[in-house]
Amino acid sequence: MRVLVTGGAGFIGSHYVDVRLRRHPRDQVVVLDKLTYAGNPANLAEARKSPRFRFVKGDICDARLVDRIVRGHRIEAIVNFAAETHVDRSILTPEEFAKTDVLGTQTLLEAVRKFKVKRFLQISTDEVYGSIERGGFKETDPLKPSSPYSASKAGGDLQVLAYWHTYGLPVIITRSSNNYGPRQYPEKLIPLFVTNAIENQPLPLYGDGLNTRDWIYVEDNCLGVDHVLDHGRVGEIYNLGAGNTRTNREITFAILKLLGKPARLIQKVPDRWGHDRRYALNTRKMQALGWRTQWPFVRGLRATVQWYQDHPEWWRPLKSGDYLKYYKKQYAGRGRQQGK
Ligand code: NAD
Ligand code: DAU
Repeated sequence: MRVLVTGGAGFIGSHYVDVRLRRHPRDQVVVLDKLTYAGNPANLAEARKSPRFRFVKGDICDARLVDRIVRGHRIEAIVNFAAETHVDRSILTPEEFAKTDVLGTQTLLEAVRKFKVKRFLQISTDEVYGSIERGGFKETDPLKPSSPYSASKAGGDLQVLAYWHTYGLPVIITRSSNNYGPRQYPEKLIPLFVTNAIENQPLPLYGDGLNTRDWIYVEDNCLGVDHVLDHGRVGEIYNLGAGNTRTNREITFAILKLLGKPARLIQKVPDRWGHDRRYALNTRKMQALGWRTQWPFVRGLRATVQWYQDHPEWWRPLKSGDYLKYYKKQYAGRGRQQGK
């Protein structure tokens, strides 16, 4: 199959490219990526060794470029990872999120329609369901996103479902929980805390530290995505979770323990605005399709911490601009209105 992977220079997309090339020795993979701050050509080092791999730098909102790629490479399937993905950034600059996550998705759907692409797989998130106190969301549950990021992802999902309903396009959606693993940009909880702890810098824990996420090792998610691309039913949504719910405090202490660092590195900071309390997914539908996770959380976290210890050349340049301190100060400076 000839597969277009958008956002393939990012964290999950680049792992997916490796998985696809490895598991399908006759496939060709083209990556389209804008190389925003989150896209990193170094993430595709393994893929570049393959003659079956091509990279194009560009924006999924650029319809002419998308058309040229889909036609030129006779693309049979599109897997759309391209998105603005960080919740804190979405609170600061929501516009970029609406552009890429909604309009970008719609631009790709138009190409699917025009060139009769056989599969369109939208990579979505558990955040579109909103927060849940106990149990896990099912695919049929209503959408209740709460941040500009999750609202934009929900908008993308709704475009995908509308194109299925209206034009009969062969679309599928996966919604996964929080991914972790090598090559995740050090603004997200686990890589931020691991790299800060390595450098004996404070770990900024939001609020009471009791917000809860379900953590899935990135390779498990990518194997699930691949399974859905080949075996999922069109028009369907599949949740990809691991059943590893942990509070942020638990994650923080696990990281400190693995690195042998003291608890005094933890710094309590004001909460994220509109912070969702708990995410969790019901994954029975994926299990019925024949998918299981393979990475217990303890093993995945150990491998992740080890990777960051072994690859400072990958993450140090990303932290040297001190942008995190910059944007957190900005965000705090704006002041939240009291309408709520
Ligand atoms: P990431 O931020 O690491 O990578 C995003 C990639 O998309 C980058 O390479 C970036 O350059 C590219 N990109 C951004 N805007 C683009 C545009 N307009 N055109 C082309 N490329 C563009 O993100 P990630 O964590 O790997 O997430 C990938 C996908 O998975 C996203 O759709 C995200 O919503 C979804 N997701 C992520 C998680 C998670 O825990 N990280 C969980 C569930 C779902
Ligand atoms: O649930 C899936 C989603 O997971 C994806 O769709 C998003 O793209 C991805 O960014 C992630 O969103 P979260 O907001 O859950 O991830 P993040 O790593 O930003 O934060 C995880 C938790 O840790 C959250 O409760 C906020 C908290 N946190 C985060 C940061 C960056 C802190 O306490 N301190 C921090 O500095």
